[in-house]
Amino acid sequence: MVKVEKITKTFESRRKKVVAVDSLSFSAEPKSIYGLLGPNGAGKTTTLRIISTLLKPDRGKTSVMGFDCVVQPTEVRKRIGFLTSDMKLSGNLTPKELLKFYGELSHMRDTDISRRTKELSEYLDMNDFLDKRIGKLSTGMKQKAAIAVSLIHDPKVIIFDEPTNGLDILTARTVTDFLKDYRDQGKTIIISTHIMSVAEKLCNRVGIIFKGRLVEDDTLEGLYEKFGEDNLEDVFFKIADREGVIEIV
Ligand SMILES: Nc1ncnc2c1ncn2[C@@H]1O[C@H](COP(=O)(O)OP(=O)(O)OP(=O)(O)O)[C@@H](O)[C@H]1O
Ligand SMILES: [Mg+2]
Repeated sequence: MVKVEKITKTFESRRKKVVAVDSLSFSAEPKSIYGLLGPNGAGKTTTLRIISTLLKPDRGKTSVMGFDCVVQPTEVRKRIGFLTSDMKLSGNLTPKELLKFYGELSHMRDTDISRRTKELSEYLDMNDFLDKRIGKLSTGMKQKAAIAVSLIHDPKVIIFDEPTNGLDILTARTVTDFLKDYRDQGKTIIISTHIMSVAEKLCNRVGIIFKGRLVEDDTLEGLYEKFGEDNLEDVFFKIADREGVIEIV
């Protein structure tokens, strides 16, 4: 369970002030996928970084399984797997070595690291490149390795920023199927995306975010009904029009 209550985050530079997240609240439940949907610069990554304890909000409160993200960040980190869109793996290590390194950082036993590595590489179809150097892998292979690394400690809560960005449809399908399986195992999953079809296929509930504000928070069916549409793209345009982001003529 993840609870976000009225968080606000402002970035200030000498010239301007950006309210990246503006009094935003939502919650995500176990055995479900919550999708944060919004255009570029809407505040999705900032929100996910706050939940993942990498950023502190100016105001508001976030908790993961009852642990406060500001007061108890270590407890929170033990329970989450965080994948960021700007975490690019590189270097001379192989995925297997990297998984061992991160497993040890999480104080896992060697036998558990081996078991988990086997499990994740089967799941994510990584066996062919488990022993190749990261620097020599393709974008999709690197993304799979990054996903595996973020999940080595088998977290209950999974926070993935744009998990299918830059992936071909086959690799994207492996990742989305994997997330669905994980959901069905009882994990609480939050993803961000600006790809409507990803949200339609994966999410039980979506939060639509414009300029840092959560302007809708509902199930897909709830949104279709409310806006009299049968797909998320049309719903999204209607909301953008209502919010004055675009004008539909
Ligand atoms: N570290 C930072 N310093 C200053 N401004 C920032 C910082 N991080 C984010 N911002 C600003 O906050 C706003 C929200 O950015 P954020 O990265 O959360 O958006 P996003 O919804 O993830 O967008 P995208 O779809 O492009 O990834 C933007 O205006 C961005 O320029
Ligand atoms: Mg982002």
